Amino acid sequence: MTGSIAATATPTATRIVEALREARRRTFALIASVSDDDLERVHSPLMSPLVWDLAHIAAYEDLWLVHRYGERPLLREDLAAMYDAFETPRAVRGDLPLLDPAQAGEYLEEVRSRTLEIIDERGVGDGVLHEMVLRHEQQHDETMLQTLMLARLDGYELAGRRPMPASSPAVATGLELVEIPAGECRIGAAPDGFSYDNERPRHRTDVRGYLIGRTAVTNASFLTFVEGGGYQRREWWSDEGWAWKEQYDISRPGAWTADLDAEWRLGGLEPLHPDRPVVHVSWFEADAFARAHGARLPTEVEWEKAATWDQEKEIARRYPWGNRRPVAGQHANLDHRGCGTAPVDGYPDGRSPYGCLGMIGDVWEWTSTAFDGYPGFVAHPYREYSEVFFGNDYRVLRGGSWATRTRVATATFRNWDYPQRRQIFSGFRIARDA
Ligand code: AVJ
Ligand code: FE
Repeated sequence: MTGSIAATATPTATRIVEALREARRRTFALIASVSDDDLERVHSPLMSPLVWDLAHIAAYEDLWLVHRYGERPLLREDLAAMYDAFETPRAVRGDLPLLDPAQAGEYLEEVRSRTLEIIDERGVGDGVLHEMVLRHEQQHDETMLQTLMLARLDGYELAGRRPMPASSPAVATGLELVEIPAGECRIGAAPDGFSYDNERPRHRTDVRGYLIGRTAVTNASFLTFVEGGGYQRREWWSDEGWAWKEQYDISRPGAWTADLDAEWRLGGLEPLHPDRPVVHVSWFEADAFARAHGARLPTEVEWEKAATWDQEKEIARRYPWGNRRPVAGQHANLDHRGCGTAPVDGYPDGRSPYGCLGMIGDVWEWTSTAFDGYPGFVAHPYREYSEVFFGNDYRVLRGGSWATRTRVATATFRNWDYPQRRQIFSGFRIARDA
């Protein structure tokens, strides 16, 4: 790679270049010990072959940083369609003449050296496109981790693996609730700094009083639900959820914990870590659990208010503890440093202004809300990031998981997926009207 930073480079450019490099090291670390065969195989019909993700990361950077920002022709015009997520949906990616792993690696490197040349020449402008491309790669790392986990592949061993925090002696279950007073709150990302179109515009909204889980629901609590007939009691399930459960004969979470340790792979009926959040549950299962407890899922507004609220002072905005980025391992379980999920109350320093724990990191949390634009939404810089997913099909997830990078997992970030999906690192907390 080239990329000595010329005199024109601003501090922002220097920071962006370092962050792009760091993101790339992670991407390569993820697959360092995966065989070429496993990189090229379709491990799950839900997921792309890993080698598609790799070349897609390159194609996205080629499009946005080389072509659009740098105003140069695409490095590989011939590959653009095959690695465009829209033109080439996941289901067909296994049947294409994809680049092999070595070629994908070269593609990544060649695009990157052009990106760095262009930054040398003209800096990063307002930095928005570079930040978008950086976070795109980081989001794909999480997708690749889902594939690695589904395939039970030994992915990677990062230097700096963190020890798991201990849970507090007072055992958290996910059933304790925190009361949040009624009142106006502000939702969405502030106009300054990077944000996705679906987080804008920031707006005021009224919220009735409610209660929300102090922590995410634990494996232990979910096991009690399973053993108490959770998957048999029709009255706890929505029509759609029941039909899904029956069709696929679902009787427990997709896996009992997300953990790269060998024990995770044993699966089985017993949750291996009762104090960690239940994970790999669909929206339907989360909804049924909540109903069984006389509760419901929080709306995404309720989730965001609980995570960020300070009506007047706005001290806590993008993260529960203010605008500083979280320190992974201190405030939150983020950054996929090889440890999987953690005890739900393992990060007391990351508590929200209302005393909720683990809102950022650990597991994505399902909300009751269908994914849509905020009032005044404007697609930017491209419709296929968010707008084409708006409507009734997808549910919003909040907060990021252990596999999400710190940069991505803000308290205003909106993720979305189909309500039946559970290959993602998805858990939930419950809520109730006050
Ligand atoms: C925000 C995680 C739903 O993976 O479909 C990656 C992120 N967008 N490439 C997805 C994304 C384009 C997106 N999610
Ligand atoms: Fe993508």
